[in-house]
Amino acid sequence: MSERLAELYPNHVASVVARAERALAFGDCDHLLLASGREQYRFLDDRPVAFYAHPPFKAFVPLTSQTDSWIVLTPGRKPVLVYCQPDDYWHLPPAPPHGYWVEQFDIRVIRKPEDAVQHFPPPGDRLAIIGEAHDAVGAYVPNNPPRVLSSLHFSRSAKTEYELACMRLAQRRAVRGHRAAEAAFRACGSEIDIHRAYLEATSHNDLDLPYGNIVALNEHCAVLHYQYQRHDRPAEHRSFLIDAGAQVHGYASDITRTYGNGDAEFSALLAGVERVQQQLCAKVRAGQNYPLLHIEAHHLLAGVLAEQDIVRMSAEAMVAEGVSSVFFPHGLGHPIGLQVHDVAGFHANEAGDTIPRPAGHPYLRMTRTLEENFVVTIEPGLYFIPMLLAGLKAGAHAGAVNWRKVEHLTRFGGIRIEDEVRATSGEPENLTRDAFAAG
Ligand code: GLY
Ligand code: MN
Ligand code: MN
Repeated sequence: MSERLAELYPNHVASVVARAERALAFGDCDHLLLASGREQYRFLDDRPVAFYAHPPFKAFVPLTSQTDSWIVLTPGRKPVLVYCQPDDYWHLPPAPPHGYWVEQFDIRVIRKPEDAVQHFPPPGDRLAIIGEAHDAVGAYVPNNPPRVLSSLHFSRSAKTEYELACMRLAQRRAVRGHRAAEAAFRACGSEIDIHRAYLEATSHNDLDLPYGNIVALNEHCAVLHYQYQRHDRPAEHRSFLIDAGAQVHGYASDITRTYGNGDAEFSALLAGVERVQQQLCAKVRAGQNYPLLHIEAHHLLAGVLAEQDIVRMSAEAMVAEGVSSVFFPHGLGHPIGLQVHDVAGFHANEAGDTIPRPAGHPYLRMTRTLEENFVVTIEPGLYFIPMLLAGLKAGAHAGAVNWRKVEHLTRFGGIRIEDEVRATSGEPENLTRDAFAAG
């Protein structure tokens, strides 16, 4: 596979260079400086915060833990990579530049972060310096021109062939973890046992993950971003929700699966969410308005609530009255790529004007119309969240709810099923299902 990446990478760099040149023209700047970032420290402590290279830098080069390094781009010239390889005997310094990416850059190795300026254009030029204030070297203080940044973000939505190849690998890597996690659940492991099985199978450590794993048993499945892994084994393993991804060359995957213990009511509900999720995935294609798909998800999930005799209202009434939002209180999904919640989910255009969310849907992270090679998550769910159910019980529609069933299902927490899907002008590519099917 690395031969394939090597083959695809030159065109990827040509695309990101073209996009960067366009961003510079759009922002009336002459040179682009992209910081990889600097290590930061905890408040009143000498412990560093986990370091992740800034996404605009990672878009050029697959160096995810390279500090104090820079991409310097001047239109018409080969991009310069200022590569910091410090003399450091406390830590292992980065290896000399090697790999499929090196030939695309004019590489300048430096030993000290402050030497980067020797490879920068004069400070008087019109520079777009992308980074945090903390990344400044000498007079080169990041200015993040809004038009340049917005154009760079906007152009990241359509993935290159190289990016898609990395993202498919990130799916394969996460799927290995998901299979091991399911086996650990079936073996009645604790949440931490399952989490460790996931890390082992993906060859990731916690800090390599694109986001903290959500490993939830029973009622914890109702906590949307459940952040702990308990060490004790519950008396019963009724349900298991795992929302966990992986990274390859800086590209993320974000997959959720939910499993039950064979309980008939929970199994039927799981089958309903699975059916709806697949219906929604089938609609990911160029020209699809994503917020409309989110609203459609509400209608389809409300249909499942009616069919399963959980709420005795029509699907239309449930959506109109906000009842579907009690059971599905988050967005349908988001763009994904170099970041798990990728940039530009709301961009109306290159200038960064925004497309608002539909009223009453405050958590939707994507309001754009899909274009070819956009990759988005499709992650519908149905949950039994005591805090939200209390509001429903106190409201006008309490009489329409089958509380016996809700009480039973509350012990299972909830369901989410999440895949990554690529929009094309024809059939969608479901990266996640393909990875599961590949073994
Ligand atoms: N894992 C966070 C999300 O699905 O958006
Ligand atoms: Mn997720
Ligand atoms: Mn997601």
